[in-house]
Amino acid sequence: MSQKWIRKKTRLPLAALLIVLLATFVILYNERSIIEQIHHHTDHEQNLIEASRFTYVKPNVHANTEVLDRFSRCNATNEYSGKKIEWVDPNEDPGQESDIVVVKEEECDVFSGKWVFDNSSYPLHKESECPYMSDQLACQKHGRLDLDYQYWRWQPHACNLKRWNVRQVWEKLRGKRLMFVGDSLNRGQWISMVCLLQSVIPRDKQSMSPNAHLTVFRAEDYNATVEFMWAPLLVESNSDDPVNHRLDQRIIRPDSVLKHASKWQHADILIFNTYLWWRQGPVKLQWSSEEKGSCEEVKGGEGMEMAMNAWGEWIANNVDPKTKRVFFVTMSPTHQRSREWNPGSEGNCYGEKKPIEEESYWGSASDIPTMRMVKRVLNRLGPKVSVINITQLSEYRKDGHPSVYRKFWEPLTQDRLDKPELYSDCIHWCVPGVPDVWNQLLFHFL
Ligand SMILES: *[C@@H]1O[C@H](CO)[C@@H](O)[C@H](O)[C@H]1NC(C)=O
Ligand SMILES: *[C@@H]1O[C@H](CO)[C@@H](O)[C@H](O)[C@H]1NC(C)=O
Ligand SMILES: *[C@@H]1O[C@H](CO)[C@@H](O)[C@H](O)[C@H]1NC(C)=O
Ligand SMILES: *[C@@H]1O[C@H](CO)[C@@H](O)[C@H](O)[C@H]1NC(C)=O
Repeated sequence: MSQKWIRKKTRLPLAALLIVLLATFVILYNERSIIEQIHHHTDHEQNLIEASRFTYVKPNVHANTEVLDRFSRCNATNEYSGKKIEWVDPNEDPGQESDIVVVKEEECDVFSGKWVFDNSSYPLHKESECPYMSDQLACQKHGRLDLDYQYWRWQPHACNLKRWNVRQVWEKLRGKRLMFVGDSLNRGQWISMVCLLQSVIPRDKQSMSPNAHLTVFRAEDYNATVEFMWAPLLVESNSDDPVNHRLDQRIIRPDSVLKHASKWQHADILIFNTYLWWRQGPVKLQWSSEEKGSCEEVKGGEGMEMAMNAWGEWIANNVDPKTKRVFFVTMSPTHQRSREWNPGSEGNCYGEKKPIEEESYWGSASDIPTMRMVKRVLNRLGPKVSVINITQLSEYRKDGHPSVYRKFWEPLTQDRLDKPELYSDCIHWCVPGVPDVWNQLLFHFL
């Protein structure tokens, strides 16, 4: 009896312990799930907040809005409304994440390599023999005496570039329109291309239209054109006048490339670029749906993302890669601070005579987040656009800029003449020179 009692007595705390444990477990479990619910809930709400901060606008729909020009003004600048560009690639696999990187199996990465001095096959053309040479880029004509910058060949690590062959390029262009669209860097590449190509065309069988929004070089016998269209921000803007475009206030129509696309849509091969114009402070937005003169303001980089998306939407919906080739040329590097490659120095590209040898050198002006954004847009366009990734290879070429050896439009004061670094152009590139190699890369993929 007493034994039983004792046993019962000992069993009781055991059962109690079990109950307590169970209860604790239940409570803990419930609490965890409550905490989870709270977390889940806040995440969800966070997403809702994120989503509601932005309104998505389908670009390239308002064909008849008033066109921006250099007289356009903002009557009022409101706070950024949170509008973003939304676009859907009609051929995009809906099950596929949009930012999955599709890496095509290439036999060789031609953008990874080094510069090799080669004065037997370079330059590919002569500055003085090109009637279309630009005074902005004719460095030899403007007094540059060190000419090594013309003699460098780009040598990919794992293969060779296709050898430049003018006749072969013309055969590829026969009956076609090749069009460059972008800013002055892209114009430099176009001039390089025209200079490279014109040498084999008899003078009376070639022509160049006057400088305009769209400038056209024509080769009669090939029934082909090599054209340049000034559109430094890709989307419509108040800077679309190829001559009079220096403005203190940049206004863009972030949701429309239609004005420009009406001219580029018939080209067979398109080469786009945009970058440096977005690096000069904030830009004003005039949405197509808003009243004339009503603006918003965003940072340059945000404006560029909108422009890339409006452009991407057009490409996605209008380009069939079987009949139209589209290329995008990545950011062209600048060499404005010599301390970046030569610590302790205070200059820029002025006086530089040799490329940078340090493998993977990357200057601070080539913005990496911008590059990532560009990559996202291009990946999304898949086979519709090929990238000509000039950034790394041009980073090495601190010697390739005109510096003081070009025509300057504004008069040079004695002050500036005494300090050449102050007016050196370390943005554009001498021709012959680096842009010839960009064209060689283009030829490689044509
Ligand atoms: C090429 O460069 C080398 C070394 O600088 C020089 O000796 C040679 O004369 C040059 N050849 C030509 C064709 O300019
Ligand atoms: C010249 O090329 C254009 C396309 O750019 C084509 O429409 C036209 O038929 C061609 N003309 C000749 C004579 O081949
Ligand atoms: C903004 O200014 C332009 C002239 O610059 C004028 O035509 C337009 O009506 C103005 N819009 C508003 C909303 O005030
Ligand atoms: C261009 O090349 C650099 C490395 O050289 C890379 O970081 C970048 O992502 C490339 N850009 C694109 C758009 O592919």
